[in-house]
Amino acid sequence: MNGMAGHMTANGGGDSAPLAFTPEIEAETAPVWERLRARMPAVEWPIHAPLIAAINRLKRAKHAVILGHNYMTPEIFHGVADFVGDSLSLAREAARTDARIIVQAGVLFMAETSKVLSPDKTVLIPDLQAGCSLATSITAADVRLIRSRYPDLPVVTYVNTTADVKAETDICCTSGNAVQVVEHIAREWGVNRVVLLPDEFLARNVARQTSVQIVAWAGRCEVHERFTGREIDELRVMYPHAQVLAHPECPPDVLAASDFAGSTAAMTDYVTRLKPRQVVLVTECAMADNVAAESPETEFLRPCNLCPHMKRITLANIYDALRHDRYCVEVASSVASRARLAVQRMIDLPPPPAPARYDLVKARYHVNVELI
Ligand code: 13P
Ligand code: SF4
Repeated sequence: MNGMAGHMTANGGGDSAPLAFTPEIEAETAPVWERLRARMPAVEWPIHAPLIAAINRLKRAKHAVILGHNYMTPEIFHGVADFVGDSLSLAREAARTDARIIVQAGVLFMAETSKVLSPDKTVLIPDLQAGCSLATSITAADVRLIRSRYPDLPVVTYVNTTADVKAETDICCTSGNAVQVVEHIAREWGVNRVVLLPDEFLARNVARQTSVQIVAWAGRCEVHERFTGREIDELRVMYPHAQVLAHPECPPDVLAASDFAGSTAAMTDYVTRLKPRQVVLVTECAMADNVAAESPETEFLRPCNLCPHMKRITLANIYDALRHDRYCVEVASSVASRARLAVQRMIDLPPPPAPARYDLVKARYHVNVELI
């Protein structure tokens, strides 16, 4: 990087005056560059480094915290996020932080969850368009109709839903604890059938791991539904020694063809603990980039898919969010109080003894779930 400092300016697409890549900024951000240099072209660093330094200063000045999902780009994940993880760990962190401001480096449903759990804090999302195909697949009115059709069954909602939807349901789950939550609520209600909304594939994958019957909704993650079992079979031919790890939002034939399936946190844990020589992370592309910084001995193979919603979050709009306190996420108090019950019930459960592993007993239980 020597010789670049002082000659480059950057605003990274934000509305701010260009920020200079000075020798001071270069020195201040050197530890982050050390983590990223193997994964990022050097020419990009003079653009990222001034924004990273400016964001970290603003965070301290405003007593703000940045919660970064595992799908954030490496410069966000390693450069400015105070906490990184899957949806479950970010929700737990949102409930316990004492910061004045939470900046959600993730999508809108995650920011709403933070606001629901911390109603007195300012919760900012850098781009209001950062949505989720699962969250838009179902409305509160749909859930009310489902309740009238299945009045004796508890309704579990995946956190990838709006606060309005969570407010209509009994308990939330994430991909990291869905089996545990389904079994817990079935025990509590004394039933052997549970409605699990809105991700059809998560529901089908959970059904294979529990004796509880599942009623599902036909929502899909637009990123994970594109993977196919055939793609995994072809990969196995090309890379016979590679470990294949898939997210449970993928279709069941993808999980059946994989070595392991779990939440984004469970995948990270798998790679950092077991250090496979070659791995394929069947999920969003940023996962491989972020885990690679901790796992130099592992080769990360493609394919992966990009989530267009997660990719709306950039260093430039995080910087603008902090400078202008925008965009404030609000949830009506009547909705928030009911949604909080559903999220808090999930958080109050003990952390799963081990991350949910959807591959443990392939198709041991129900293959046929009831689709509403
Ligand atoms: P995790 O809960 O595994 O982090 O997944 C969230 C998500 O949006 C996956 O697509
Ligand atoms: Fe939603 Fe899928 Fe993107 Fe996750 S990856 S935010 S589930 S669209």
